[in-house]
Amino acid sequence: MPVTIGVLREGTPGETRVSLVPEIADKLAAAAARVLVERGAGVSAQFPDSGYKKVDWADSAQAVLAAADVLLTVQPLTVQQIQALRPGAVVIGFMQPHAHVAEVQALRDRQITGFAMELVPRISRAQSMDALSSQAAIAGYKSVLIAANTLDRFLPMLTTAAGTIRPAQVLIVGVGVAGLQAIATAKRLGAVVEAYDVRSATREQVRSLGAKFVDTGVSAEGSGGYARELTDEEKRKQQEVLDSRIALADAVITTAAVPGRRAPVIVTRAAVERMKAGAVIVDIAAESGGNCELTQAGQTVLHQGVKIVGPVNLPAQLAFHASEMYSRNLYNFLKPALGKDGALAIDWQDEVFAQSCLTHAGAIKHEPTRKLVEGT
Ligand code: NAI
Repeated sequence: MPVTIGVLREGTPGETRVSLVPEIADKLAAAAARVLVERGAGVSAQFPDSGYKKVDWADSAQAVLAAADVLLTVQPLTVQQIQALRPGAVVIGFMQPHAHVAEVQALRDRQITGFAMELVPRISRAQSMDALSSQAAIAGYKSVLIAANTLDRFLPMLTTAAGTIRPAQVLIVGVGVAGLQAIATAKRLGAVVEAYDVRSATREQVRSLGAKFVDTGVSAEGSGGYARELTDEEKRKQQEVLDSRIALADAVITTAAVPGRRAPVIVTRAAVERMKAGAVIVDIAAESGGNCELTQAGQTVLHQGVKIVGPVNLPAQLAFHASEMYSRNLYNFLKPALGKDGALAIDWQDEVFAQSCLTHAGAIKHEPTRKLVEGT
């Protein structure tokens, strides 16, 4: 039996992305699945209904939830939406399990198979499914544009009849996927770019993009390519060197995260107070607590002439391409589980499915989340 793949018009405030853009929805329909889309699902990402050629339409979210065998989402579903799903249905999307305990319980209790896109293992084979990366690249790009827009100076050097303008100094803190894209974007705009990360492997990546690596003499290699938490002495040393670079910057972009934890505070109030009036901090870790002590998620704070911007959901500000990339991630994840007849057959031996599974058959499969929700 071909599966019915459901697509909702996302209901979370500020969310403009759609889980399936027309090209990918039609591709899935051509792969023998039935794709059921809530009317208007793609409108806020500039994908009008008329672009979807091979899908069926539903007039309400309720109709999609009741009919879907596989539901593709961007944001986590609400408890109410989960309860409207058919037991045994599959949901694939961002689930932010540490922040959505009630929703995880609802998925478990409703016997939903939940795959969390943030849990897709970061192995070479799964790169085309890596939605954390595709969306982080967008956040990194956009963060520099926000900085450029907020600054009252040029980023590039200009030689004009009215004199020579010196280029802006941009400091990028955290050189993961977002940080790399931020470096590349700031370079394209002509800024003088420095970058810093606790992982020493980033040193070469920073240099290869034509930026300078800030050397604090501290390395924090963790497991699986992620950073570990630093000791107090390491933090103090890191802070001293960084503070001196922050003080010189016109714009600081912070992207540093430690998975599953609050973002580390890297730009202290004291460091902000050493910055030039008119300088800008764009803190894309704002949603997970912020890398700057003064960041307020969703707001711009003015502190002694320095603007601290705490954007939330940056990918939603570039909804067209964010949706396109995210759709491709979902397609690459789901396609191997679709048989020729459009039926669903999940290979549980495949580490991509096994590791990204949050809930299945009444159990929480992701151990850290199970501990958080059920204790012990
Ligand atoms: P992330 O969003 O978890 O963190 C951003 C950056 O902040 C990281 O580079 C991290 O080292 C850095 N950071 C953490 N604490 C810091 C501190 N106190 N000071 C300065 N920097 C700090 O990172 P993202 O983008 O998710 O990438 C994490 C890792 O996964 C990287 O090694 C990346 O290369 C790797 N990766 C591997 C992929 C694959 O093989 N398929 C795909 C994407 C990423």
